Amino acid sequence: MRYLVIGSGGREHAIAWRLLHDGSATEVYVAPGNGGIDDRYRVAIAINDFESMYTFCKSKSIDVVVVGPEAPLVNGIVDFLHNKGIRVFGPTAKAAQLEGSKLFAKYIMQKYNVPTAQFREFKDKNDLLHYIESLTEYPIVIKLDGLAAGKGVGVCNTKHDAIQFINTMVNHDTRVFVEDFCAGEEASVLGISDGNTVLPFIAAQDHKRALDNDEGPNTGGMGAYAPAPIVDSRILGRVHREILQPVIQGMNKEGIPFAGILYAGIIIKDGMIKVLEFNVRFGDPETQVLLPLLNGKLGDYINAAIDGTLSSTNLSFRNKHAITVVLASGGYPGSYSTGLPIHGLDQIHNDILIFHAGTKREGNTIVTNGGRVLNVTAIADSLEEAYNKVYSVIPLLSFEGMHYRKDIGFRALKKRA
Ligand code: GLY
Repeated sequence: MRYLVIGSGGREHAIAWRLLHDGSATEVYVAPGNGGIDDRYRVAIAINDFESMYTFCKSKSIDVVVVGPEAPLVNGIVDFLHNKGIRVFGPTAKAAQLEGSKLFAKYIMQKYNVPTAQFREFKDKNDLLHYIESLTEYPIVIKLDGLAAGKGVGVCNTKHDAIQFINTMVNHDTRVFVEDFCAGEEASVLGISDGNTVLPFIAAQDHKRALDNDEGPNTGGMGAYAPAPIVDSRILGRVHREILQPVIQGMNKEGIPFAGILYAGIIIKDGMIKVLEFNVRFGDPETQVLLPLLNGKLGDYINAAIDGTLSSTNLSFRNKHAITVVLASGGYPGSYSTGLPIHGLDQIHNDILIFHAGTKREGNTIVTNGGRVLNVTAIADSLEEAYNKVYSVIPLLSFEGMHYRKDIGFRALKKRA
């Protein structure tokens, strides 16, 4: 089978690697891809150029398209390609509102009794400011409705913080809501759905802050590991029954069936589980630890989701542990230079997986081309072994300004110490 994967991050490199590695695919093209993708399979088409994607699919007889990032999903790439007769994995634009509109997701959760923080929507900025003035308990969370590349959420510890966030981020026509703050430990549980059945992956845990001990600014994710022990089999069963299934069934009742990856960002405290957000695609960097642990063929699950036959499919994972550490450009998540040569890639052998993200090829050299540059991934029998393995090879890799977290997996490792 020939696949086209849309996107350019570590997630898309991991999807392409997995499709080839497990024999799902004979060829995998990636658009626009990155320096980890061989020249012959890297396609210079922007993620939102649907017409060119279609023309490419026809010219290469692509059997299945897998969409990585949220933007083309929210913009309707699945509807567009499907209407032209192309098999494509991911939700329609309407179903992708679960990520594209945080308020849509809240109202679905409210209607179908999915546990999430209490919230209140404001249509008028002055009403919102009056409400903030009246509050006595902090922290609170203020969320803007649409896709905001991670910048649409303000966790405000004081009234002053809240007013500052509103004055910087909220215009008079912004849809916005205020939510109770939830304390606890976060985890990511992805489910694959065909619109009726949803099968959960093992849980992963991302590390969103730039610096060790969860300090510093928010990033796209500095590393992940799986399985995350905070989500034991009992909690995973509850996430399946109390979150993933009710949402898939609810979307069906609404006449908006959801097929693709439903990613629940959850928070757990004292046995209470709440949904913080939904994404409608594979997580990045969670995918870099989940796909190496998957049993079977990724392509079989994707095709079963497209064909509506997941109920007769069994999704299972190896009894191993995976860690991925993101090597980032100096300055990331702020401004950073690109075009810096990456050294040491030829030193990495054996069972370490390198998933490229912000890289590109310049002749025979791989250079930096983004904030998150490489994902170094190790698999082992225990989390400790995976941790030791990944951190023993990272010193072999370098580029000017490179930085990375030294504590990926710390929550689980501390619990075991
Ligand atoms: N790991 C966070 C995300 O994929 O959005």
